[in-house]
Amino acid sequence: MSRLQIAAGNWKMNKNLEEGVALATALVEANPSSDQLVILATPFIHLQAVGAVIKDVPHFKLAAQNCHQAEKGAYTGEISVEMLKSIGVEYVIIGHSERREYFKEDNALLAQKIDAVLAGGLIPIFCCGESLTIREAGTHVDFVANQLKESIFHLSDADFSKLVIAYEPIWAIGTGVTASPAQAQDMQAALRQLIAKQYSQEIADGTSILYGGSVKPANCNDLFSQADVDGGLVGGASLKAEDFTTIIKAL
Ligand code: PGA
Repeated sequence: MSRLQIAAGNWKMNKNLEEGVALATALVEANPSSDQLVILATPFIHLQAVGAVIKDVPHFKLAAQNCHQAEKGAYTGEISVEMLKSIGVEYVIIGHSERREYFKEDNALLAQKIDAVLAGGLIPIFCCGESLTIREAGTHVDFVANQLKESIFHLSDADFSKLVIAYEPIWAIGTGVTASPAQAQDMQAALRQLIAKQYSQEIADGTSILYGGSVKPANCNDLFSQADVDGGLVGGASLKAEDFTTIIKAL
């Protein structure tokens, strides 16, 4: 089954505007063409400028790292889907573990954000993943299954088919510890089975499921060669043009 393979860079709260534009420029120069997708999830204030850098390179797309669930209104400091759309953003990361942990975003709120993103015509990159305690207790598949159930399994077939999913075990994010290719594969195959059960085999086979958590040049080939790993959501290693280029080329 050929699914879209994706390298998504999550810059988090890193780089000033000048540095961000320089990084995007270097990435475009190093990756002038690809059959696969490169997504840059930059800080909000970089989006327009980075959008200008990638505008003639169709395999590069722009993502926000978060958005608000309401259409508009008195939500000081927040950004709406419509605003993102108006500057050419096509994807929005929803449910990153740092949003869940530091900003107390729970499954029910994330369901609202997913709905808002889809209603606005953008594509959510839905993040899920378990903590080390849950992994060690052996309940990780059930835990992640519940995240899917409470945040995305209410979607219609048509909406679900648009989603990108990123499995990111929390114990592997920014820690230098990567899930082994077999651990990533096992979880992602289990998620695909759940999707097949909830929707259909066809929809499950068409859903890109990325792995995230300390993806780097040294491990990307092994991870991406797993049958159910359709690319990566990359934090630290996406901040260096050379490293992220190696990861893009490994797709
Ligand atoms: P990392 O971050 O690659 O630095 O572990 C991944 C993520 O948080 O998406």
